[in-house]
Amino acid sequence: MLNKKVKSIILAAGKGTRMKSELPKVLHTMFNKPLLGYVIDAVNKTGYINENFIIVGHESEKVEKFVKENYENSKCILQSPQLGTGDAVNKATPYLKDFDGYVIVVCGDTPLITAETIKNFVEFHDNNHADLTVMSAIFENPKNYGRIIRDKNNKFVAIIEEKDATIEQKEVKEVNAGIYCINWKTISDAFNHLHNNNAQGEYYLTDIVKWAVEKNLNVQSYILKNNDEIFGINSKIHLAQATKTLNKKSIEKLMEEGVQIVDPDTTYISPETTIGADTIILPNVYITGKNTIGKKCKIGPFSHVRDGAIIGNNVRIGNFVEIKKSVIKDNTNVSHLSYIGDSELGSHVNIGAGTITANYNPISKIKSKTIIKDGANTGSNSVLVAPVTINEMASIAAGSIITKDVEAYSLAITRSPLKIFSNWVKKKIEQLSGGNK
Ligand code: UD1
Ligand code: MG
Repeated sequence: MLNKKVKSIILAAGKGTRMKSELPKVLHTMFNKPLLGYVIDAVNKTGYINENFIIVGHESEKVEKFVKENYENSKCILQSPQLGTGDAVNKATPYLKDFDGYVIVVCGDTPLITAETIKNFVEFHDNNHADLTVMSAIFENPKNYGRIIRDKNNKFVAIIEEKDATIEQKEVKEVNAGIYCINWKTISDAFNHLHNNNAQGEYYLTDIVKWAVEKNLNVQSYILKNNDEIFGINSKIHLAQATKTLNKKSIEKLMEEGVQIVDPDTTYISPETTIGADTIILPNVYITGKNTIGKKCKIGPFSHVRDGAIIGNNVRIGNFVEIKKSVIKDNTNVSHLSYIGDSELGSHVNIGAGTITANYNPISKIKSKTIIKDGANTGSNSVLVAPVTINEMASIAAGSIITKDVEAYSLAITRSPLKIFSNWVKKKIEQLSGGNK
C-alpha cells in the first residue's frame, strides 16, 4: 500500500510529424493495438492508479474516441495549441484541484514501458517521501534527450534539454526518461511559474525540477534498468523496431513457458496471446490481438490468428489458414487454406482444405456465426454461409455451399451431377487436324 492515491497524466497531444501520416502518432498500432493503449494498460496494470488524464491535441477526436471506447477510467483533455510538455500537464490542473496524492506523468508514444517499472518507480517515490521523482536512464548515445544535471555533491538539480545544453552538459550520459512522479500538493504551484524562454520557445515540464530544488523540496531520480522501455516512437522505422522488441519479449516468454517456436525471426505473436506448453509454432505465423491457445497444438507454417481466438488442446491450424474470433475445441483440425471467422468448432471436427465460413454480409454489414458441432467434417472447398449450424457428426461433401442447418449424422451435398464425355478431347483434336488439310 502506498501512502497516497495516484492519478496519471499521459501526454499525447503531439502531432508526430515524422510519422508522415494522417493518423495521430499515438493511434499507430503494434499487433493491432494503438501505442496509447499500451501505455494506458501499463499504467492501469500497476493497480495503483484509478484515473488517467490523457492530453490530446492533434486529431483529438480520433484519440478521444479510442480512449472513450476502451478505457472507462480515462478522460481526455484538449491542449490546443501545443505549447510544450509543461503546458500539457498544466491543462490537467483544473481536474486536480485539492488532490492530495501522486501524479504520474508518462508519454503516450513510449509503448514498451511496463507496469512493473511504473509500479517500482511509484513505490520508490513513496518510500523516499519524495516531492518529485524523475525517471532517468543511462545512454551511451544520449542525443536528443534532456540531460540530468547534478551539482558537485552529485545532487540532482535540473534537467537541461539538448537544444539548450552547453557542450559540457551534452557530455552527460544520464538522461531524462520522460516519466515523472509528482507529489501534487507540493509541486503543482510550479506550473504557475514556467516560462518559455528557451531554445524551443516551449513551456518545459522539465523546469519543475529546478523550481523544486530552489524550494528545497525532496527531488529524486530513479534509474531505469532496461532502456528499451522508454523507446519513443517518432517514425515508422521506430514503430517497426518497437514491434520487433515487443515480439522478441513475447516469444521468449512463451518459449520459457514451454512453447516450441521453430523460427523466432519469422514468427509474430502478440503479448496478449497465451499458449500452452508443447504447442509447436512453425515459421511465418502471425498472431495478433488477444487469444488463448492450448497445449500440444501445431500452428503453421503460414497461419494467421487475428484476434479473439480460443483454441483448445491438440488442435492443428495449418498453412494458409486464417482464424478470427472463434472457439475451437480439443482435437480439431483446420489444416489447409481455410477461413474460420465468428465460429464455434466442437472437438474432433475436421475442416477440409479450402473451407470458408462466409460470415460477413457486405450489404447489411452484419457478421453471423457458424457453429460446427463435435465430430462433424467438411469436404474440401465447402462454403458455410452463416448463420448456419452443422450438427454432430454431420458430413459436408466437397464443393458444397451450405445455406441451411445440417442435422446430426447427415450428409449435405450441393453439386451438379458429374458428366463424362468419353473421347471428347480426341474427337476435338481429330476435327481440328481434319480442318487443316
Ligand atoms: C521530452 C523531455 C526530455 C526527455 C524526453 C524523453 C521536455 C521539455 N523534454 O523531450 O527531457 O529526455 O522527453 O522522451 O519535456 N506533448 C504534448 N504537448 C506538447 C508537447 C508535447 O502532449 O505541447 C507530448 C508529445 O506528444 C509526447 C511527449 O509530450 O508524447 C513528449 O514530447 P516531445 O516533444 O517528444 O518531447 P521531447 O523533445 O522528446
Ligand atoms: Mg519525444
